[in-house]
Amino acid sequence: MSIPVQGHRPMYGDVRLYSGTSAPELAGRISEFLKTDLCGRDIITFPNDNIFVKLHSSVRGQDCYVIQSTSIPVQRNLMEMLILIQTLRLDSAARITAVIPYLCYTRSDKKDQPRVPITARLVADMIEVAGADRYMTLDLHADQIQGFFSIPGDVLYAFHILIDPLRKLVAEAKDPVMVSPDLGFAKKARNYAAALELPLAFIEKRRLSNAPTAKALTMIGDVKDKDCFLLDEEISTGNTIVTAVNLLKQHGARTITNIFIHPVLAPGGAEKLAALPIDRFITTDTIPISPEKRALFGDRMTIYSIAPLLGEVIHRANAGISVGQMFNE
Ligand code: R5P
Repeated sequence: MSIPVQGHRPMYGDVRLYSGTSAPELAGRISEFLKTDLCGRDIITFPNDNIFVKLHSSVRGQDCYVIQSTSIPVQRNLMEMLILIQTLRLDSAARITAVIPYLCYTRSDKKDQPRVPITARLVADMIEVAGADRYMTLDLHADQIQGFFSIPGDVLYAFHILIDPLRKLVAEAKDPVMVSPDLGFAKKARNYAAALELPLAFIEKRRLSNAPTAKALTMIGDVKDKDCFLLDEEISTGNTIVTAVNLLKQHGARTITNIFIHPVLAPGGAEKLAALPIDRFITTDTIPISPEKRALFGDRMTIYSIAPLLGEVIHRANAGISVGQMFNE
């Protein structure tokens, strides 16, 4: 990712970066990329579990960015982000952008059975009501979730960070094939496959209930004696990947590289994943991975930072420069 484009005057004052507590390392990397310090704030949890925020300095007339992944513990991280946004609003920030590398509840995006909520819509409403003018996020579970927001947003893709390292791995691979573990993800897998000039295989998976179990039913495409690049947007319990890996091995896959954008890694998920016959794991820092979990993967795992992507888009949003131009759009 290139160095920020110079020469445009900020429309809403200088960039003011605020970080919640969920992804401090990523916030630090964005701050380094932008050569802009994170702003001081206190985030306190009272004995009654209520969260309190206080800014160290005024943001009146400034362009503020709140960096917070709404990962586990989801309720806490979401509430913390909303309170930070409201604090900035009440202090008369000129513009507030919620920078949410991982947006929670996006899997709850439709009424696909009677008497269920659409929580992704509720979350979008809460972000707006708290006072955000804009949002930025990465690789939503479904792009249509953008329609739940009535404020403008930048939905970005880790593709732009991952594609070059993947090109190198593909060049060294024997008979490489891109595999989607889920038909719902097939379109995005196809974009990666097209950019890497790889054939595509799919696993047809059907969830049978709300229980976090998934069943891989059919392998569509040829993986025998091939180096498989198994791509998913997030790994939570690991059940989807367990079923996919078993099926790939049954069908004669030679090696498996598992690429996933959001390392949600719910309790037990990292252990399950690390125990699988996967040769290489590639992920990003949209959600921090604890040192204990990280150690389970050893040198099989590489984490690519999305900070240059978010940093450049923050810079462009502040300076009023096209974001699409970054991707030749
Ligand atoms: C499903 O629609 C997603 O693409 C992932 O496959 C899913 O979120 C992974 O969840 P888990 O690791 O719990 O199977």
